[in-house]
Amino acid sequence: MMEVNIADLTWSPFIYPRGGRSEETVKTYVEALRAGATFPPIKVQRVFNYPKDNEKVEAILILDGIHRWSAFKECGYKTIAAIEWKKGPIDYEINQIPLLLESAKCNLTHGDRLSPRDKKRIARDIATSDTECAWTEEALAQKLGVIQQTVNTWISDIRARQKAGRNVVITRLSRLGWAQEWIAQVVGTSQGRVAQIINNTNFGEINNLLSQGRDMNYIAGHYQMDLALAWALRLEGKTDQEKFKELGWGLRTWDQWNFNNCDERFGDDWPGRIPAQLVAHTLFYFTRPDDLVLDPMAGGGVVSDVCLIFERRCQSFDLAARENRPEIMYHYWDPQNGQWPTAKKPDLIFFDPPYFTKKEKDYRGKANDKTPSISSYPREHYEEFFERFFLLAHQKVKETTRIAFLNADWRDFQSTPALKENEGKAITIFDYHRILSKTGWKVTHRIECPLSSERMSGNEVLKMQEKRILGTVGRSIIIAKRC
Ligand SMILES: C[S@@+](CC[C@H](N)C(=O)[O-])C[C@H]1O[C@@H](n2cnc3c(N)ncnc32)[C@H](O)[C@@H]1O
Repeated sequence: MMEVNIADLTWSPFIYPRGGRSEETVKTYVEALRAGATFPPIKVQRVFNYPKDNEKVEAILILDGIHRWSAFKECGYKTIAAIEWKKGPIDYEINQIPLLLESAKCNLTHGDRLSPRDKKRIARDIATSDTECAWTEEALAQKLGVIQQTVNTWISDIRARQKAGRNVVITRLSRLGWAQEWIAQVVGTSQGRVAQIINNTNFGEINNLLSQGRDMNYIAGHYQMDLALAWALRLEGKTDQEKFKELGWGLRTWDQWNFNNCDERFGDDWPGRIPAQLVAHTLFYFTRPDDLVLDPMAGGGVVSDVCLIFERRCQSFDLAARENRPEIMYHYWDPQNGQWPTAKKPDLIFFDPPYFTKKEKDYRGKANDKTPSISSYPREHYEEFFERFFLLAHQKVKETTRIAFLNADWRDFQSTPALKENEGKAITIFDYHRILSKTGWKVTHRIECPLSSERMSGNEVLKMQEKRILGTVGRSIIIAKRC
């Protein structure tokens, strides 16, 4: 056992379940501490190569005892008793998953147990980062204290995508409108072979499997394909309305699209991931089947997944390209250099950029110093980026092309009463409206799709109310057409 400085400890959101901290528990612990109670030591691990502010640093990570640590801090203690999991320090980069699992294991056995939602999140995080599929469903089930079947249901779509064979990649890219010549280059085969696969691959059994009562997760696993492609094949030829119905999404008739949670079937778990329903509604109202959609900052790929299902063609780019998403091509947008990565003219640009500095740290992890995410830009530079992007887009697209621009109000409201906010630091939808108008685009619609306010705990809300802090959950899709 050792005494560690409370200020030296790191709560890593990857290692310790994000949703795992309960204000209620911290409050109870604070009361107990004040009444003289003693607590068992927390569990920590010293590591090196821990990513922080663009550097690799040494850190002491909390594996177990976030509530005790929070309560000690709140009571003004400077140190806390701790035991170390492994005689450290160990390399964070190669031990990320064992650390996550050790933390999960500690949480299984006491106090605030992990909820099934936390366990599912952990299983999905591990499956996503474990691209070699080294962790079997059986091993994960054992570590998380659930049956193997449950883990199968949680991660089968991720595993299917990781194991997707060449035919599946070819089918996916072809349905997104990729030329056979390009597909051949990406999968490393001849154009003739690509044509053969497109014409001869038969997934006709899907309906049989459905009539035998198999669900879509089973079917995706059976063909070793991602869920989006499995849905696309199942719904092929149906009308957009029928597709909404079969996907279980109520079709909204008004310009208020409230979807608190992402539909986990589509898009990868990605910082800033958006609900697939927002994309589907935009496609429904502003495109027709076979139209071409450009997704300049594709992130987790939810736009291409929805395009696949709704039979729109799609071109996606991001500075973070990766193996399991062959449709997302690497492109670093720097409109100062005037480069536009495609000659094809889209019918719709679905543009979901980082919302100013929100999630800056997450995106920084995906970028590098020479090609930083625009979320690390200062305000003026960030606005200038859009001005140049919209001007460039105006030159490169068709007369009838529309932009669907998704962004959120950003105000400096953290710890600041509404009357004292510095409006010079804010960027709101009005600013984007101004920039679009200035660069030759006419704003035609504003659709409200607010972020959920449920992320705030009761305590946090109370504190905001006491200080008259006005939070913001505003998020809108602005539709603009060329003028
Ligand atoms: C809000 S996320 C997109 C999320 C996506 N719609 C989803 O649901 O998963 C914004 C993306 O912009 C990318 N990005 C930021 N700056 C960029 C740049 N200059 N060039 C290319 N991509 C950039 C980031 O890597 C990030 O994936």
